[in-house]
Amino acid sequence: MVSTDSGQVKITARGLSLFYGSFHALKSVDLDVQSRTITAIIGPSGCGKSTLLRTFNRMNDMVPGFRLDGEVRLDGQDIYGPQMSVSVLRKRVGMVFQKPNPFPFSIRDNVLFGPRAHGVTDRAYLEHILEQSLRGSGLWDDGGFDLDTPAQDLPLGAQQQLCIARLLAVEPEVILLDEPCSALDPYSTLHIEDLMRQLSEAYTIVIVTHNMQQAARASDRAVFMLLGSMVEEGPTGRLFTEPHDERTAEYIMGRFG
Ligand SMILES: Nc1ncnc2c1ncn2[C@@H]1O[C@H](COP(=O)(O)OP(=O)(O)O)[C@@H](O)[C@H]1O
Ligand SMILES: [Mg+2]
Repeated sequence: MVSTDSGQVKITARGLSLFYGSFHALKSVDLDVQSRTITAIIGPSGCGKSTLLRTFNRMNDMVPGFRLDGEVRLDGQDIYGPQMSVSVLRKRVGMVFQKPNPFPFSIRDNVLFGPRAHGVTDRAYLEHILEQSLRGSGLWDDGGFDLDTPAQDLPLGAQQQLCIARLLAVEPEVILLDEPCSALDPYSTLHIEDLMRQLSEAYTIVIVTHNMQQAARASDRAVFMLLGSMVEEGPTGRLFTEPHDERTAEYIMGRFG
């Protein structure tokens, strides 16, 4: 486990509260997410892990009754401020979901969807992006896929890698993953964890997982959420072996959740 205490901060949340109608889903969360680090958000079901993750690229904005107090900054810039374009934000902060969700197109067209949507037309450059993104996601070397294969024909683990390749193609800075391995077999899961480790050299990664072994194996820092509050945050090794809060200790020991 890497010590990242001296790392730069990529995302800051301050006094972050979020409501779905009258339901108070996040309660005054203060959090610094370190740059080029893997941060795991853990906690029992319904405690606000996905909600917190989705505030980092404004995926909750469309939920009826959504209201947010406090602030979230990306490199110091208020992402809920008037200067922030949501489409630019989503390019900078990409997201991978629980269930792989490739478009019903070929591998090639999935990866190139973003660059084309952003106006890239040069064929040689698109081929370059395609190769780089597939390499970055570990798919390129994985046994000579025909790039015209429909994405849906890939095994689930490879579909998830393809979703990661689709993000890499638009050169994000932050990658959010919401339980990305929960539909995958253990080997594909390890593969995604290895991939996250490689990607964390260049990208800031935040992963929601209810798999504590995964958080322990695969993250540098961990955030423990409970009932919408952030109970504790710190280096993963420390949080798992010497939790500062009694509630973290009880959760880690399996007393609830
Ligand atoms: N779109 C929504 N509308 C209303 N309530 C929601 C919505 N999404 C989540 N919630 C509620 O917010 C709480 C936190 O949900 P969520 O962030 O998905 O938790 P977790 O990811 O930790 O399981 C839960 O009580 C959930 O029912
Ligand atoms: Mg969730």
